[in-house]
Amino acid sequence: MPRRILILFAHPALEKSRVNRQLLAAVKNLEGVMVHDLYEDYPDGFIDVRREQKALTEHDIVVWQHPFFWYSSPSLLKEWQDLVLTYGFAFGTEDTALKGKKVLTAIATGGSEVSYHPECFNRFTIRQLLAPFEQTATLCGMEYLEPFVIHDALDLTADQITQAAERYRQTILALRDEATEP
Ligand SMILES: Cc1cc2nc3c(=O)[nH]c(=O)nc-3n(C[C@H](O)[C@H](O)[C@H](O)COP(=O)(O)O)c2cc1C
Repeated sequence: MPRRILILFAHPALEKSRVNRQLLAAVKNLEGVMVHDLYEDYPDGFIDVRREQKALTEHDIVVWQHPFFWYSSPSLLKEWQDLVLTYGFAFGTEDTALKGKKVLTAIATGGSEVSYHPECFNRFTIRQLLAPFEQTATLCGMEYLEPFVIHDALDLTADQITQAAERYRQTILALRDEATEP
């Protein structure tokens, strides 16, 4: 059975976006994929925790899609984590709701791939910098997948962005259609 995918999208200025906007457009009408734009749905920042928890229980794979801001996510996604991933629902008891689900981080970074290296100016790899996301998922019993990363976001040509969007679409389709284990 195809997996149900929930894309939690966090971009505070979508009208200025070049990369994330196109990535999102490439996946938003796919069957089995639900896009939830946090900044659009919560312009005042007040998150409906019950609604979010219900949406999580109804999907198999969660995608945290956002531009990389200060080596992390825009703040509304952090607020979402703080409020939605509560004790008893997401972690802390035997029978929590997120166990066995998967999480994919999908980000665009201004920095180049080589800059995210111990000997370059960003000093850490992307995977190291995403450790709080990985460990949050792990603590909730979720499998943290290899992140989908588009580097050099500010310098990409229109063609390169189109190619990145197609790679994102293929990644999401592969996750959706991946055979379940017997
Ligand atoms: C507030 C802010 C913080 C940023 N922090 C980082 C950062 O830590 N690392 C990085 O590589 N790029 C950083 N950038 C660049 C963004 O990641 C880049 O502009 C974005 O991914 C482009 O995607 P978009 O076209 O969808 O907006 C930052 C940009 C802003 C506005």
